[in-house]
Amino acid sequence: MTSSPTHSATQSRTSTDEALDPVEFPPGFLWGAATSAFQIEGATAADGRGPSIWDAFTAEPGRILGGDTGEPAADHYRRWREDVALIRELGLGAYRFSIAWPRVQPAGSGPADPAGLDFYDRLVDALLEAGVEPWPTLYHWDLPQPLEEAGGWPERDTALRFAEYAGLVRDALGDRVAAWTTINEPWCAAFLGYAAGVHAPGRTEPAAALAAAHHLLLGHGLAAGVLRDGPGAPRVGIVHNQTELLPYRPEVADLAAARRADAVRNRVFTDPLLHGRYPADLIEDLAPVTDFGFVRDGDLALAAAPLDLLGVNFYQPHRVAASPEGIDPGLLESGGDTAALVGCETEVMVRRGLETTGMGWEIDPSGLYGVLTRLAAEAPGLPLYVVENGAAYPDEVSGDGRVRDPDRIRYLEAHLRAVHQAVRAGAPVRGYFVWSLLDNFEWAWGYSQRFGLVHVDYATQRRTVKDSGRWYAAVARTGTLPG
Ligand code: NOJ
Repeated sequence: MTSSPTHSATQSRTSTDEALDPVEFPPGFLWGAATSAFQIEGATAADGRGPSIWDAFTAEPGRILGGDTGEPAADHYRRWREDVALIRELGLGAYRFSIAWPRVQPAGSGPADPAGLDFYDRLVDALLEAGVEPWPTLYHWDLPQPLEEAGGWPERDTALRFAEYAGLVRDALGDRVAAWTTINEPWCAAFLGYAAGVHAPGRTEPAAALAAAHHLLLGHGLAAGVLRDGPGAPRVGIVHNQTELLPYRPEVADLAAARRADAVRNRVFTDPLLHGRYPADLIEDLAPVTDFGFVRDGDLALAAAPLDLLGVNFYQPHRVAASPEGIDPGLLESGGDTAALVGCETEVMVRRGLETTGMGWEIDPSGLYGVLTRLAAEAPGLPLYVVENGAAYPDEVSGDGRVRDPDRIRYLEAHLRAVHQAVRAGAPVRGYFVWSLLDNFEWAWGYSQRFGLVHVDYATQRRTVKDSGRWYAAVARTGTLPG
Protein backbone atom coordinates (compact mmCIF):
# COMPACT_ATOMS: atom_id res chain seq x y z
CA MET A 1 0.00 0.00 0.00
CA THR A 2 1.21 3.45 -0.76
CA SER A 3 0.44 6.13 1.76
CA SER A 4 -1.45 9.10 0.50
CA PRO A 5 -0.46 12.72 0.95
CA THR A 6 -3.28 13.21 3.44
CA HIS A 7 -2.06 10.25 5.46
CA SER A 8 1.34 11.88 5.86
CA ALA A 9 -0.29 15.18 6.80
CA THR A 10 -1.25 13.74 10.15
CA GLN A 11 2.23 12.31 10.71
CA SER A 12 4.27 15.30 9.73
CA ARG A 13 3.77 17.65 12.65
CA THR A 14 6.71 17.95 15.00
CA SER A 15 5.98 18.63 18.63
CA THR A 16 7.14 22.00 19.87
CA ASP A 17 8.08 20.86 23.36
CA GLU A 18 11.12 18.99 22.00
CA ALA A 19 12.63 22.10 20.49
CA LEU A 20 14.62 23.16 23.53
CA ASP A 21 15.68 19.80 24.94
CA PRO A 22 19.11 18.39 24.19
CA VAL A 23 18.80 15.29 22.04
CA GLU A 24 21.11 12.34 21.76
CA PHE A 25 21.32 10.19 18.63
CA PRO A 26 21.65 6.41 18.91
CA PRO A 27 25.14 4.94 19.21
CA GLY A 28 26.59 4.15 15.78
CA PHE A 29 24.58 6.86 14.05
CA LEU A 30 26.65 7.85 10.99
CA TRP A 31 27.59 11.50 10.52
CA GLY A 32 28.74 12.64 7.11
CA ALA A 33 28.82 15.28 4.42
CA ALA A 34 28.17 14.98 0.69
CA THR A 35 29.36 16.40 -2.62
CA SER A 36 29.15 15.41 -6.28
CA ALA A 37 31.76 15.19 -9.02
CA PHE A 38 30.60 17.86 -11.46
CA GLN A 39 29.83 20.27 -8.65
CA ILE A 40 33.29 20.24 -7.04
CA GLU A 41 35.93 18.65 -9.24
CA GLY A 42 36.62 21.16 -12.02
CA ALA A 43 39.44 19.87 -14.26
CA THR A 44 36.86 18.96 -16.84
CA ALA A 45 39.42 18.14 -19.50
CA ALA A 46 42.15 16.65 -17.31
CA ASP A 47 43.61 13.20 -17.83
CA GLY A 48 41.37 12.26 -20.74
CA ARG A 49 38.00 13.01 -19.11
CA GLY A 50 35.29 13.08 -21.77
CA PRO A 51 32.51 15.67 -22.03
CA SER A 52 29.31 15.17 -20.07
CA ILE A 53 25.83 16.55 -20.67
CA TRP A 54 26.60 19.19 -18.05
CA ASP A 55 29.64 20.41 -19.99
CA ALA A 56 27.46 20.72 -23.08
CA PHE A 57 24.56 22.34 -21.20
CA THR A 58 26.70 24.90 -19.36
CA ALA A 59 28.25 25.89 -22.70
CA GLU A 60 24.82 26.93 -24.02
CA PRO A 61 24.21 30.64 -23.51
CA GLY A 62 21.48 31.49 -21.04
CA ARG A 63 21.26 28.08 -19.37
CA ILE A 64 23.22 28.86 -16.20
CA LEU A 65 23.04 31.95 -14.04
CA GLY A 66 26.03 34.18 -14.80
CA GLY A 67 27.17 31.84 -17.58
CA ASP A 68 28.98 29.71 -14.98
CA THR A 69 30.42 26.33 -15.96
CA GLY A 70 32.02 23.30 -14.27
CA GLU A 71 35.28 25.28 -14.14
CA PRO A 72 36.84 25.89 -11.74
CA ALA A 73 34.29 24.53 -9.27
CA ALA A 74 36.19 23.80 -6.05
CA ASP A 75 39.16 22.42 -8.01
CA HIS A 76 38.75 19.28 -5.95
CA TYR A 77 40.34 17.11 -8.65
CA ARG A 78 43.63 18.79 -7.77
CA ARG A 79 42.99 19.65 -4.13
CA TRP A 80 41.46 16.38 -2.92
CA ARG A 81 44.18 15.77 -0.35
CA GLU A 82 43.40 19.09 1.34
CA ASP A 83 39.69 18.21 1.24
CA VAL A 84 40.22 14.81 2.83
CA ALA A 85 42.22 16.58 5.54
CA LEU A 86 39.22 18.87 6.11
CA ILE A 87 36.87 15.89 6.41
CA ARG A 88 39.22 14.41 8.98
CA GLU A 89 39.46 17.72 10.82
CA LEU A 90 35.66 17.86 11.01
CA GLY A 91 35.68 14.34 12.46
CA LEU A 92 33.11 12.96 10.03
CA GLY A 93 32.41 9.24 9.93
CA ALA A 94 31.54 9.11 6.22
CA TYR A 95 31.96 11.11 3.04
CA ARG A 96 29.51 10.81 0.17
CA PHE A 97 30.93 11.75 -3.23
CA SER A 98 30.11 10.79 -6.79
CA ILE A 99 32.18 9.20 -9.48
CA ALA A 100 32.30 11.00 -12.81
CA TRP A 101 31.24 8.51 -15.48
CA PRO A 102 33.05 10.57 -18.17
CA ARG A 103 36.33 10.17 -16.28
CA VAL A 104 35.90 6.40 -16.14
CA GLN A 105 34.53 5.97 -19.68
CA PRO A 106 35.25 9.18 -21.61
CA ALA A 107 32.99 8.06 -24.47
CA GLY A 108 30.37 6.37 -22.29
CA SER A 109 31.32 2.84 -23.31
CA GLY A 110 34.34 0.63 -23.75
CA PRO A 111 37.27 -0.02 -21.43
CA ALA A 112 37.98 2.13 -18.39
CA ASP A 113 40.40 5.03 -18.58
CA PRO A 114 42.91 4.09 -15.89
CA ALA A 115 43.70 7.74 -15.10
CA GLY A 116 40.06 8.48 -14.33
CA LEU A 117 39.70 5.47 -12.07
CA ASP A 118 43.01 6.19 -10.33
CA PHE A 119 41.65 9.45 -9.03
CA TYR A 120 38.86 7.69 -7.14
CA ASP A 121 41.18 4.88 -6.15
CA ARG A 122 43.47 7.34 -4.37
CA LEU A 123 40.52 9.18 -2.85
CA VAL A 124 39.07 5.98 -1.38
CA ASP A 125 42.45 5.01 0.06
CA ALA A 126 42.94 8.43 1.60
CA LEU A 127 39.46 8.39 3.16
CA LEU A 128 39.99 4.96 4.66
CA GLU A 129 43.33 6.05 6.00
CA ALA A 130 41.62 9.03 7.62
CA GLY A 131 39.08 6.68 9.23
CA VAL A 132 36.24 7.93 7.00
CA GLU A 133 33.81 5.55 5.26
CA PRO A 134 33.68 6.24 1.51
CA TRP A 135 30.09 6.45 0.21
CA PRO A 136 30.35 6.69 -3.58
CA THR A 137 27.38 7.42 -5.80
CA LEU A 138 27.77 6.10 -9.34
CA TYR A 139 25.62 8.68 -11.09
CA HIS A 140 25.09 12.28 -10.03
CA TRP A 141 23.81 13.56 -13.39
CA ASP A 142 26.98 13.75 -15.50
CA LEU A 143 26.00 11.45 -18.37
CA PRO A 144 28.78 11.11 -20.98
CA GLN A 145 27.75 13.39 -23.85
CA PRO A 146 28.13 10.65 -26.53
CA LEU A 147 25.39 8.68 -24.74
CA GLU A 148 23.08 11.68 -24.88
CA GLU A 149 23.85 12.01 -28.56
CA ALA A 150 22.68 8.41 -28.90
CA GLY A 151 19.37 9.36 -27.21
CA GLY A 152 20.26 9.65 -23.52
CA TRP A 153 18.23 8.15 -20.67
CA PRO A 154 15.03 7.87 -22.73
CA GLU A 155 16.92 5.11 -24.59
CA ARG A 156 17.04 1.67 -22.99
CA ASP A 157 20.63 1.20 -24.07
CA THR A 158 21.77 3.89 -21.62
CA ALA A 159 20.69 1.65 -18.72
CA LEU A 160 22.77 -1.19 -20.15
CA ARG A 161 25.77 1.11 -20.58
CA PHE A 162 25.32 2.23 -16.96
CA ALA A 163 25.55 -1.37 -15.75
CA GLU A 164 28.75 -1.80 -17.77
CA TYR A 165 30.22 1.33 -16.17
CA ALA A 166 29.15 0.06 -12.72
CA GLY A 167 31.17 -3.10 -13.35
CA LEU A 168 34.31 -1.10 -14.16
CA VAL A 169 33.98 0.94 -10.97
CA ARG A 170 33.23 -2.15 -8.88
CA ASP A 171 36.34 -3.89 -10.21
CA ALA A 172 38.47 -0.90 -9.25
CA LEU A 173 37.01 0.04 -5.86
CA GLY A 174 34.81 -2.84 -4.75
CA ASP A 175 37.46 -4.31 -2.47
CA ARG A 176 37.30 -1.16 -0.27
CA VAL A 177 33.78 0.26 -0.60
CA ALA A 178 31.18 -1.06 1.84
CA ALA A 179 28.24 1.21 0.91
CA TRP A 180 27.27 2.20 -2.62
CA THR A 181 24.45 4.26 -4.00
CA THR A 182 23.66 3.90 -7.67
CA ILE A 183 21.77 6.98 -8.82
CA ASN A 184 21.22 10.37 -7.24
CA GLU A 185 17.71 11.85 -7.40
CA PRO A 186 16.36 10.11 -10.48
CA TRP A 187 13.43 12.57 -10.39
CA CYS A 188 15.74 15.49 -11.17
CA ALA A 189 17.71 13.53 -13.77
CA ALA A 190 14.54 12.50 -15.59
CA PHE A 191 12.11 15.37 -15.11
CA LEU A 192 14.29 18.46 -14.70
CA GLY A 193 16.52 17.20 -17.51
CA TYR A 194 14.01 15.86 -20.03
CA ALA A 195 10.65 17.54 -19.20
CA ALA A 196 11.26 20.91 -17.55
CA GLY A 197 14.53 21.34 -19.46
CA VAL A 198 16.14 23.38 -16.67
CA HIS A 199 18.87 20.78 -16.12
CA ALA A 200 21.04 19.01 -18.68
CA PRO A 201 20.35 17.93 -21.34
CA GLY A 202 17.67 20.65 -21.41
CA ARG A 203 14.97 18.73 -23.26
CA THR A 204 11.26 19.46 -22.84
CA GLU A 205 9.67 16.17 -23.83
CA PRO A 206 7.31 14.79 -21.15
CA ALA A 207 7.03 11.32 -22.71
CA ALA A 208 10.82 11.07 -22.99
CA ALA A 209 11.10 12.07 -19.31
CA LEU A 210 8.92 9.11 -18.33
CA ALA A 211 11.04 6.76 -20.42
CA ALA A 212 14.13 8.29 -18.81
CA ALA A 213 12.69 7.68 -15.34
CA HIS A 214 12.07 4.05 -16.23
CA HIS A 215 15.55 3.53 -17.63
CA LEU A 216 17.12 5.16 -14.58
CA LEU A 217 15.24 2.64 -12.44
CA LEU A 218 16.31 -0.18 -14.74
CA GLY A 219 19.90 1.09 -14.67
CA HIS A 220 19.74 1.14 -10.88
CA GLY A 221 18.49 -2.45 -10.76
CA LEU A 222 21.13 -3.70 -13.18
CA ALA A 223 23.95 -1.80 -11.49
CA ALA A 224 22.85 -2.99 -8.04
CA GLY A 225 23.19 -6.59 -9.22
CA VAL A 226 26.62 -5.85 -10.67
CA LEU A 227 27.83 -4.22 -7.43
CA ARG A 228 26.55 -7.11 -5.33
CA ASP A 229 28.48 -9.55 -7.53
CA GLY A 230 31.71 -7.90 -6.46
CA PRO A 231 34.03 -8.59 -3.58
CA GLY A 232 32.81 -8.42 0.01
CA ALA A 233 29.16 -7.96 0.85
CA PRO A 234 28.57 -4.31 0.03
CA ARG A 235 25.39 -2.53 0.97
CA VAL A 236 23.69 -1.08 -2.09
CA GLY A 237 21.02 1.60 -2.31
CA ILE A 238 19.67 4.46 -4.37
CA VAL A 239 19.19 8.15 -3.48
CA HIS A 240 15.64 9.41 -3.76
CA ASN A 241 14.42 12.94 -3.17
CA GLN A 242 11.12 12.07 -1.60
CA THR A 243 9.06 15.25 -1.40
CA GLU A 244 6.25 16.02 0.99
CA LEU A 245 3.37 17.25 -1.18
CA LEU A 246 0.33 18.09 0.88
CA PRO A 247 -2.88 19.76 -0.28
CA TYR A 248 -2.81 23.53 0.18
CA ARG A 249 -6.41 23.58 1.37
CA PRO A 250 -8.57 20.74 2.66
CA GLU A 251 -10.60 20.73 -0.53
CA VAL A 252 -11.34 17.88 -2.88
CA ALA A 253 -9.65 19.58 -5.84
CA ASP A 254 -6.44 20.32 -3.90
CA LEU A 255 -6.41 16.79 -2.49
CA ALA A 256 -6.61 15.40 -6.01
CA ALA A 257 -3.85 17.76 -7.18
CA ALA A 258 -1.61 16.68 -4.29
CA ARG A 259 -2.29 13.04 -5.09
CA ARG A 260 -1.32 13.57 -8.75
CA ALA A 261 1.84 15.47 -7.81
CA ASP A 262 2.78 12.77 -5.28
CA ALA A 263 2.42 10.12 -7.98
CA VAL A 264 4.67 11.86 -10.48
CA ARG A 265 7.33 12.95 -7.99
CA ASN A 266 7.45 10.23 -5.34
CA ARG A 267 5.51 7.10 -6.16
CA VAL A 268 6.79 6.96 -9.76
CA PHE A 269 10.05 5.86 -8.10
CA THR A 270 9.09 4.34 -4.76
CA ASP A 271 6.38 2.04 -6.14
CA PRO A 272 8.76 0.35 -8.63
CA LEU A 273 11.66 0.30 -6.14
CA LEU A 274 9.71 -0.95 -3.14
CA HIS A 275 6.80 -2.82 -4.71
CA GLY A 276 7.82 -3.67 -8.28
CA ARG A 277 4.99 -1.81 -10.02
CA TYR A 278 3.96 1.59 -11.33
CA PRO A 279 1.06 3.22 -9.46
CA ALA A 280 -2.28 2.63 -11.19
CA ASP A 281 -3.31 6.26 -10.72
CA LEU A 282 -0.08 7.46 -12.34
CA ILE A 283 -0.63 5.23 -15.36
CA GLU A 284 -4.15 6.63 -15.68
CA ASP A 285 -3.09 10.27 -15.18
CA LEU A 286 -0.35 9.93 -17.75
CA ALA A 287 -2.39 8.12 -20.40
CA PRO A 288 -2.40 11.23 -22.64
CA VAL A 289 1.40 11.38 -22.39
CA THR A 290 2.65 7.82 -22.49
CA ASP A 291 1.43 4.23 -22.70
CA PHE A 292 4.42 2.99 -20.64
CA GLY A 293 5.42 0.95 -23.69
CA PHE A 294 9.04 1.23 -22.57
CA VAL A 295 8.43 -1.27 -19.73
CA ARG A 296 9.59 -4.76 -20.68
CA ASP A 297 8.99 -8.04 -18.89
CA GLY A 298 11.33 -8.37 -15.95
CA ASP A 299 12.23 -4.67 -15.71
CA LEU A 300 10.16 -4.00 -12.62
CA ALA A 301 11.47 -7.07 -10.85
CA LEU A 302 14.97 -5.77 -11.49
CA ALA A 303 14.12 -2.28 -10.24
CA ALA A 304 12.64 -3.84 -7.09
CA ALA A 305 15.67 -5.96 -6.22
CA PRO A 306 15.96 -5.72 -2.42
CA LEU A 307 17.73 -2.59 -1.22
CA ASP A 308 20.20 -2.63 1.66
CA LEU A 309 19.56 1.03 2.33
CA LEU A 310 17.60 3.95 0.98
CA GLY A 311 19.25 7.34 0.66
CA VAL A 312 16.88 10.24 1.21
CA ASN A 313 17.54 13.83 0.13
CA PHE A 314 15.40 16.52 1.68
CA TYR A 315 15.35 20.30 1.38
CA GLN A 316 11.77 21.60 1.57
CA PRO A 317 8.19 20.37 1.60
CA HIS A 318 5.53 21.63 -0.83
CA ARG A 319 1.88 22.50 -0.75
CA VAL A 320 -0.19 21.81 -3.84
CA ALA A 321 -3.34 23.47 -5.14
CA ALA A 322 -5.48 22.50 -8.10
CA SER A 323 -5.35 25.96 -9.65
CA PRO A 324 -4.00 29.44 -8.94
CA GLU A 325 -7.54 30.80 -8.51
CA GLY A 326 -8.11 32.54 -5.20
CA ILE A 327 -4.43 32.38 -4.21
CA ASP A 328 -2.25 35.44 -3.69
CA PRO A 329 -0.04 35.46 -6.84
CA GLY A 330 2.94 36.27 -4.63
CA LEU A 331 2.59 32.82 -3.04
CA LEU A 332 2.66 30.84 -6.29
CA GLU A 333 5.93 29.05 -6.94
CA SER A 334 7.27 29.87 -10.35
CA GLY A 335 7.65 27.08 -12.85
CA GLY A 336 4.52 25.08 -12.12
CA ASP A 337 6.74 22.12 -12.93
CA THR A 338 4.37 19.35 -11.95
CA ALA A 339 1.78 20.46 -14.49
CA ALA A 340 4.42 20.61 -17.20
CA LEU A 341 5.54 17.12 -16.32
CA VAL A 342 2.18 15.47 -16.23
CA GLY A 343 1.16 17.40 -19.29
CA CYS A 344 -2.52 16.69 -18.78
CA GLU A 345 -3.64 18.27 -15.52
CA THR A 346 -2.89 21.63 -14.00
CA GLU A 347 -1.68 22.06 -10.49
CA VAL A 348 0.36 24.71 -8.75
CA MET A 349 2.81 24.72 -5.89
CA VAL A 350 1.97 27.28 -3.24
CA ARG A 351 4.18 28.92 -0.66
CA ARG A 352 2.98 29.47 2.87
CA GLY A 353 4.98 32.61 3.54
CA LEU A 354 7.49 30.77 5.74
CA GLU A 355 11.09 31.84 6.21
CA THR A 356 13.21 30.84 3.21
CA THR A 357 16.84 29.93 2.48
CA GLY A 358 19.00 31.67 -0.12
CA MET A 359 17.43 29.48 -2.79
CA GLY A 360 14.03 30.89 -1.84
CA TRP A 361 13.06 27.48 -0.45
CA GLU A 362 10.66 27.51 2.50
CA ILE A 363 11.98 26.08 5.73
CA ASP A 364 9.77 23.47 7.39
CA PRO A 365 11.60 20.56 9.06
CA SER A 366 8.32 18.78 9.78
CA GLY A 367 8.46 17.80 6.10
CA LEU A 368 11.58 15.73 6.78
CA TYR A 369 9.85 13.99 9.66
CA GLY A 370 6.91 13.30 7.35
CA VAL A 371 9.11 11.90 4.60
CA LEU A 372 11.10 9.62 6.92
CA THR A 373 8.12 8.23 8.80
CA ARG A 374 6.21 7.66 5.58
CA LEU A 375 9.11 5.74 3.99
CA ALA A 376 9.61 3.78 7.22
CA ALA A 377 5.95 2.75 7.13
CA GLU A 378 6.12 1.85 3.47
CA ALA A 379 9.33 -0.19 3.64
CA PRO A 380 9.42 -1.62 7.16
CA GLY A 381 12.93 -2.30 8.38
CA LEU A 382 14.73 -0.74 5.40
CA PRO A 383 17.62 1.33 6.80
CA LEU A 384 17.19 4.98 5.84
CA TYR A 385 20.03 7.48 5.55
CA VAL A 386 19.47 11.18 5.00
CA VAL A 387 22.24 11.58 2.43
CA GLU A 388 21.56 15.24 1.66
CA ASN A 389 20.09 18.04 3.73
CA GLY A 390 21.30 21.59 3.96
CA ALA A 391 20.76 25.20 3.02
CA ALA A 392 22.33 27.90 0.87
CA TYR A 393 23.10 31.32 2.31
CA PRO A 394 25.22 34.22 0.99
CA ASP A 395 28.19 33.52 3.25
CA GLU A 396 31.22 35.77 3.40
CA VAL A 397 34.58 35.54 5.06
CA SER A 398 34.82 38.42 7.55
CA GLY A 399 37.88 40.48 8.28
CA ASP A 400 38.83 38.19 11.17
CA GLY A 401 38.81 35.18 8.83
CA ARG A 402 35.57 33.67 10.19
CA VAL A 403 32.44 32.77 8.26
CA ARG A 404 29.46 33.42 10.50
CA ASP A 405 26.46 31.44 9.22
CA PRO A 406 23.98 31.21 12.10
CA ASP A 407 21.06 30.67 9.69
CA ARG A 408 22.60 27.45 8.40
CA ILE A 409 23.22 26.23 11.94
CA ARG A 410 19.56 26.88 12.77
CA TYR A 411 18.44 25.08 9.59
CA LEU A 412 20.62 22.04 10.30
CA GLU A 413 19.70 21.89 13.96
CA ALA A 414 15.97 22.08 13.24
CA HIS A 415 16.21 19.35 10.61
CA LEU A 416 18.33 17.14 12.85
CA ARG A 417 15.68 17.48 15.53
CA ALA A 418 13.14 16.28 12.96
CA VAL A 419 15.37 13.30 12.15
CA HIS A 420 15.70 12.51 15.82
CA GLN A 421 11.96 12.68 16.25
CA ALA A 422 11.53 10.27 13.34
CA VAL A 423 14.01 7.90 15.01
CA ARG A 424 12.03 8.13 18.24
CA ALA A 425 8.88 7.35 16.28
CA GLY A 426 10.56 4.14 15.13
CA ALA A 427 11.94 5.10 11.70
CA PRO A 428 15.20 3.21 11.10
CA VAL A 429 17.25 6.30 10.23
CA ARG A 430 20.90 5.30 10.56
CA GLY A 431 22.80 8.36 9.41
CA TYR A 432 22.77 11.93 8.17
CA PHE A 433 24.93 13.75 5.61
CA VAL A 434 25.02 17.52 5.25
CA TRP A 435 24.82 18.94 1.75
CA SER A 436 27.48 20.01 1.27
CA LEU A 437 31.04 19.62 2.47
CA LEU A 438 32.17 22.50 0.23
CA ASP A 439 30.57 25.45 -1.52
CA ASN A 440 30.12 24.29 -5.11
CA PHE A 441 28.46 24.62 -8.52
CA GLU A 442 24.71 24.68 -7.85
CA TRP A 443 23.53 23.55 -11.31
CA ALA A 444 21.35 26.17 -13.05
CA TRP A 445 22.22 28.60 -10.23
CA GLY A 446 25.94 28.39 -10.96
CA TYR A 447 28.19 29.57 -8.13
CA SER A 448 25.59 32.00 -6.77
CA GLN A 449 24.46 29.62 -4.01
CA ARG A 450 26.73 28.45 -1.21
CA PHE A 451 25.70 25.22 0.56
CA GLY A 452 29.06 24.29 2.13
CA LEU A 453 30.15 23.66 5.68
CA VAL A 454 33.39 24.96 4.23
CA HIS A 455 33.58 28.24 2.32
CA VAL A 456 35.41 28.22 -1.01
CA ASP A 457 36.90 31.41 -2.44
CA TYR A 458 36.71 30.48 -6.12
CA ALA A 459 39.41 33.00 -7.14
CA THR A 460 42.04 31.65 -4.78
CA GLN A 461 40.49 28.24 -3.96
CA ARG A 462 41.09 29.01 -0.32
CA ARG A 463 38.95 26.91 2.03
CA THR A 464 37.57 28.34 5.31
CA VAL A 465 35.60 26.19 7.71
CA LYS A 466 32.37 28.07 8.46
CA ASP A 467 30.89 28.37 11.96
CA SER A 468 28.38 25.72 10.83
CA GLY A 469 31.27 23.38 10.03
CA ARG A 470 32.63 23.73 13.55
CA TRP A 471 29.15 23.35 15.02
CA TYR A 472 28.52 20.20 12.95
CA ALA A 473 31.89 18.74 13.91
CA ALA A 474 30.85 19.00 17.56
CA VAL A 475 27.50 17.34 16.82
CA ALA A 476 29.26 14.54 14.93
CA ARG A 477 31.79 14.07 17.73
CA THR A 478 29.22 13.90 20.52
CA GLY A 479 26.20 12.52 18.68
CA THR A 480 24.22 15.14 20.58
CA LEU A 481 22.39 18.36 19.84
CA PRO A 482 22.79 20.69 22.77
CA GLY A 483 19.62 22.18 24.23
C1 NOJ B 1 20.15 17.83 -4.58
C2 NOJ B 1 21.24 17.47 -5.52
O1 NOJ B 1 21.55 16.11 -5.39
C3 NOJ B 1 22.50 18.32 -5.36
O2 NOJ B 1 23.31 18.09 -6.46
C4 NOJ B 1 22.09 19.77 -5.22
O3 NOJ B 1 23.22 20.61 -5.19
C5 NOJ B 1 21.25 19.94 -3.99
N1 NOJ B 1 20.03 19.18 -4.19
C6 NOJ B 1 20.84 21.38 -3.70
O4 NOJ B 1 20.03 21.83 -4.71
